[in-house]
Amino acid sequence: MTQKAEPAQKAAVFLDRDGTIMEDRGFVDDPGEVRLLPGAVEALKALQGRYVLFVVTNQSGIARGAITREGADRVNRFLDGELQRRGVDIREWYVCPHGPGDGCRCRKPSSFFLEEAAREFGVDLSRSFVVGDHPHDPETADGTGAFGLYVLTGHGQRHLEELPEGQLVFHALPGAAEWILGHPEPQRDLEENLQAGAAALRAGGLTAFATETVYGLGADALNPEAVEGIFRAKGRPHADPLIVHIARREQLKGLVREVPPAAEVLMDRWWPGPLTVVLPKSEAVPEAVTAGHPTVAVRMPAHPLARRLIEAAGVPVAAPSANIFGRTSPTTAAHVADQLGQACDVIVDAGACRVGVESTVVSLTGEVPVLLREGGVTREELEEVLGVPVAGSAGRLPEEERISPGLMESHYAPQVPLVLAGDWEGSEGAELRGDPQTGILYFGGEEESQGEESRPGDFAGPVEVLSRRGDAREAAVNLYAALRRLDGWRDAGGRRLRRMAAVLLPETGAGAAVNDRLRKAAGRGGEPVLDADPRP
Ligand code: TXA
Ligand code: MG
Repeated sequence: MTQKAEPAQKAAVFLDRDGTIMEDRGFVDDPGEVRLLPGAVEALKALQGRYVLFVVTNQSGIARGAITREGADRVNRFLDGELQRRGVDIREWYVCPHGPGDGCRCRKPSSFFLEEAAREFGVDLSRSFVVGDHPHDPETADGTGAFGLYVLTGHGQRHLEELPEGQLVFHALPGAAEWILGHPEPQRDLEENLQAGAAALRAGGLTAFATETVYGLGADALNPEAVEGIFRAKGRPHADPLIVHIARREQLKGLVREVPPAAEVLMDRWWPGPLTVVLPKSEAVPEAVTAGHPTVAVRMPAHPLARRLIEAAGVPVAAPSANIFGRTSPTTAAHVADQLGQACDVIVDAGACRVGVESTVVSLTGEVPVLLREGGVTREELEEVLGVPVAGSAGRLPEEERISPGLMESHYAPQVPLVLAGDWEGSEGAELRGDPQTGILYFGGEEESQGEESRPGDFAGPVEVLSRRGDAREAAVNLYAALRRLDGWRDAGGRRLRRMAAVLLPETGAGAAVNDRLRKAAGRGGEPVLDADPRP
């Protein structure tokens, strides 16, 4: 085997510190407060095989007098020592000690330290990456040729709204590192991935792709054979109709017979976005897509890469969530590969999904709008914009009225049984908390000032934090990945969990969508299965 010559210039990864590598606990000057985030060390080790690592951190607490420069340096030295001890070498620690009004040149989003690394260490910025949990982190890459990635740890969730739509996001550093390693030429690799996905769609194949809600398993919506491939791959019953995804509003015309004023209002407000409208279908839409219904569900995804894929394919794209029927929906490309890797011609890997639960589905085919599935757009928001009550909440419809199969009770199910507890107190809660083989889906309501521990105490089994501060949107983003991790969890003896347990969220806003998925994952009743055999 001939070895490729090492490029003369090194490529680098520039990492934010707080909220990206270690927990963000505010102004830290005491090494005793340093907590590495889960998986950070392994991710950094994987990266340093190919990249030189730098840390770039804004420590405005110094300018504010909350901490001293010495304190910040002490923390960096400690962290550097910890990482070295575990085999990770950070080439340089770049600290901006200034505040917003100081007029310095080094404060992020300035690319000052990236340029510095290019000069001092011969870094080739055009092959480099920036990772961080604040919009200003990926922004430092702008104009330098480097590629920015955003992580949802630390403050990531809180600033999500400020982020440009096209910005790739990841649940945490390990996911970002994996993506970097798989995309050495990120712009070109993404483009190739997208074009391959579009070509597969045109050829009647299956392309899985990221949307803002969950990953979809796409096929040409106007090609019945291609659509049949979706049902085969997922093991999905033919009675369950698919959502058709479009890139532009004009594409709607070809798919529906009429667009009532209420639909226009909703589309004006939420398209592109996590809202699906059900309308009377046109002749062009095959029965295979709509399961023989006279209606069709249509949505325009917010993820720009999803729209570019649809545009490049040149056809509307039918796509259910890219999971085996009845199982947990995917919010990363790795989730898709897990269950449907073999069945997909192409997986367009565009990071994690920002919303995390499926779109809201509203039917506008009758007298009144009907909410068929709770999702990224809340019922309250719909009613406010429409100015009328929205009928039928998924969870409360009697069985015979469940015209949308997504309303079926057992859905989105992990393999390990999920039980819903009233609370974590009381005797039931105590039993769940005390059992090392019960995995916990934890939703807190804690003050930010308490800091972000890596896990809440008082649980004997593994804990997945959906949102420590009790933010339902954050819980939605984390839900499916958390379910999957608990589903795959093994103890030292290789045993699976006996069950997972969750307490429902307050039923408002995004909480309704999360609760809907939790109830469906728990299935009918949600009785604890205390001696469930671990399934293979
Ligand atoms: O966020 C989403 O909607 C994701 C991404 C990939 O876009 N897609 C998704 O698709 O969740 P799927 O197939 O898992 O769910 C589609 C839902 C089901 O509840 C289905 O029954 C309902 O939409 N649906 C589709 N066509 C319908 C129709 N004509 N009438 C009533 N419900 C319909
Ligand atoms: Mg940060």
